[in-house]
Amino acid sequence: MPKITIEKNLFCLPWTQTILGTHLEGKVNFMALDWLTRVNYNPPMIGICVNKMSASHSAILGTGEFSINVPSADMAALTDYTGIVSGKKVDKSKLFEVFYGELKSAPMIVNCPVTMECKLVQPVELPTNYFFIAEIMNIYTEERFLTDGKPDVKKINPFVLTMPDNRFWSIGECIGKAWHEGIAVRERLKQE
Ligand SMILES: Cc1cc2nc3c(=O)[nH]c(=O)nc-3n(C[C@H](O)[C@H](O)[C@H](O)COP(=O)(O)O)c2cc1C
Repeated sequence: MPKITIEKNLFCLPWTQTILGTHLEGKVNFMALDWLTRVNYNPPMIGICVNKMSASHSAILGTGEFSINVPSADMAALTDYTGIVSGKKVDKSKLFEVFYGELKSAPMIVNCPVTMECKLVQPVELPTNYFFIAEIMNIYTEERFLTDGKPDVKKINPFVLTMPDNRFWSIGECIGKAWHEGIAVRERLKQE
């Protein structure tokens, strides 16, 4: 099959859907956020991409703190809402019940199965976005989302976003174990 090129922003990769929590001029604000990734193992760090048009980017530059909240699939509509209105014009502070850990400007959502409070380490200014590198100070969950002491994706029930079709998807079936399925391939290739 011949390969074709497509518009460069139309890559179709699933991203975990999260909600970014900040303090915007002293008031709680939330925004839908998908562009995030782990960037350092120890200390644990996360990188998030936030558009310069958003209120959230100036909130983070102002306080140096934020939260990442992982909603479950039943929170898709509320999550989406946080991504279609701006804290510059609309008060999103009452959308969720919040709690705080050790950081004063990282409001976390009680109803989200997993939340983390993050401290800014390095803002990287890019043409349209900021890439904020932050240390994860604490991660919060509840006993009911764990199996054998570890977060259980079936219980957390997160969802992902694909673009350019702009759709949310729930997580499907487990298809194998990482750092494990490749072992049989390695052994087979060794013998060839
Ligand atoms: C599903 C969804 C995902 C989004 N992901 C991001 C993202 O990763 N980064 C970003 O800068 N904006 C993202 N946005 C856009 C912001 O959430 C949106 O501009 C929001 O209104 C900004 O809110 P604020 O001005 O209160 O910060 C997303 C929007 C939606 C609906």
